[in-house]
Amino acid sequence: MLRVAVLVSGGGTNLQALIDAIDAGKVRNAGIVRVISSSPAAGALKRAVKAGIDTETVCRKEYDSDEDYERALMEAIEGAQPDLVVLAGFLKILPGRIVERYRNRIINIHPSLIPSFCGPGYYGLKVHEEVIKRGVKVTGATVHFVDEGCDSGPIILQKAVYLKNGDTPEILQKRVMEEAEWQILPKAVDLIAQGGVRINGGITETDEE
Ligand code: GRF
Repeated sequence: MLRVAVLVSGGGTNLQALIDAIDAGKVRNAGIVRVISSSPAAGALKRAVKAGIDTETVCRKEYDSDEDYERALMEAIEGAQPDLVVLAGFLKILPGRIVERYRNRIINIHPSLIPSFCGPGYYGLKVHEEVIKRGVKVTGATVHFVDEGCDSGPIILQKAVYLKNGDTPEILQKRVMEEAEWQILPKAVDLIAQGGVRINGGITETDEE
């Protein structure tokens, strides 16, 4: 079984999608062994507890220095002995030491079609605001491996979502989640658990049907 640690900061709907897909047998040979939150107030923690998953909170402001915080975060991850670390709405930049330690074993879900509308400052509603402002007709979501850059690692899966007249950032955010994020995040974990993702020169090749 692929041991999965999920890092969260918010409501946890992507975490929920993963929990549900594992329960439904759509994600095979994988289990969530720990949910780690950057905030004690994250709704994702309640979802984890309800699903009987071990939780931990590592909050930056409880540590005096970046070093202490990074050590605590590393310990929380290491303690779960994960094969895969999933960032599901984790709003903190992952320390380089952790990226290095888990090279090609950390994935992130981003709510746009990378390389559009990504990089520093593009998170949450801001992404969808910029999409609408630019007037693009298609957006979507991307699951990618995490490297030292911001949204720059190898792309695993993407799914397109069309804009509609009258879309607001909130309406679009919800549609991108429902139609894309909640589909491709579990699918990527399943692919990885089946050994169906290979990285070659910064590009992935997947066994997706
Ligand atoms: C999602 O839009 C995800 O793409 C982004 O943060 C949001 C998290 O939502 N990285 P949730 O906590 O999974 O509901």
